[in-house]
Amino acid sequence: MHSRIVGTGSYLPAQVMSNAELAQRVDTSDEWIRTRTGIRQRHLAAPDEKTSDLALAAAREALTAAGLAPAAVDMIVLATTTPDMVFPSTACILQDKLGTRNGPAFDVQAVCSGFVYALGLADLMVKSGQARNALVVGAEIYSRILDWNDRGTCVLFGDGAGAVVLAPASEPGILSTHLHADGHYRDILAVPGTVAHGEVSGTPLLTMEGNTVFKFAVKVLAEVAHEALAANGLTTAAIDWLIPHQANIRIMDATAKKLHVPLERMVTTVDRHANTSAASIPLALDLAVRDGRIRSGQHVMLLGVGGGFTWGSVLLRW
Ligand code: UT7
Repeated sequence: MHSRIVGTGSYLPAQVMSNAELAQRVDTSDEWIRTRTGIRQRHLAAPDEKTSDLALAAAREALTAAGLAPAAVDMIVLATTTPDMVFPSTACILQDKLGTRNGPAFDVQAVCSGFVYALGLADLMVKSGQARNALVVGAEIYSRILDWNDRGTCVLFGDGAGAVVLAPASEPGILSTHLHADGHYRDILAVPGTVAHGEVSGTPLLTMEGNTVFKFAVKVLAEVAHEALAANGLTTAAIDWLIPHQANIRIMDATAKKLHVPLERMVTTVDRHANTSAASIPLALDLAVRDGRIRSGQHVMLLGVGGGFTWGSVLLRW
């Protein structure tokens, strides 16, 4: 038994904030942001939108693409670092909003690697026959955990959601998944706050050592891609589409260069979406599927990296 993605979907909130608008709030410029990160704009959730709302819109689109009714979903794995609330999980809230009651629903917390982690878990569940139609979602509202006075971080992130439906298949589908973590690096990217005794303690806003994160990301993204290729007896020439986490165009370009993958074979959304954390990979995947770039039989390499630190790959044959 194998698993295969049978539908993709995405959702971006209506409000778009350009770099120029951001430069009115904080000491930065369109030129600095574009040249250092490749970002031109980001989408921002409306005040009444919750992560589960973004997830719902993306999930509905993925289900429509798969030709499935919500009632067919028998597992929901939702990757997010910005859940609606402490509990219940955003996956359970999404399940209720979809109007379904089948199977397990749970969140995965692996920050920007969350979607790759979630897909890896769903793959195991589908392959083992424990789930037939798994909904795998990455959904984030980072605009609510940013310090909008910190130019070093607030320019980098955006809000959005992406989703896929994973179903059993006689041919793979998902060829391999490789997941990693190294908690020694837990301090270089964090929201070091918590809720305790009825109050927020610590800092409930994103903190980051940008340069350390940058170097770490370039190193592990290339490593984990090689690990996936070796496990499948393939070389980098076999990669038809590279979909790395959309953090910074310089990290993405450096990764593609290390892997000798031409930039034309990398899917890029960071310019329009900025870094949407766990949503960035499914958003980019959905875009490239819908615009016809990703075609049947092609190899697609998904590469995640994020806080924890966590990183991982999913290699697919489409
Ligand atoms: O999912 C993972 C999430 N995180 C990331 O992917 C972040 C990875 N890191 C990066 O993308 C880069 O390190 C940044 C984009 C955050 C920073 O780029 P950099 O080329 O590493 O710049 P820097 O931190 O070395 O800063 C260079 C200068 C500094 O000024 P001085 O000290 O040279 O005078 C900063 O204060 O740029 C300044 N700076 C800014 N200037 C204008 C930092 N942020 C800004 C800004 N606008 N937004």
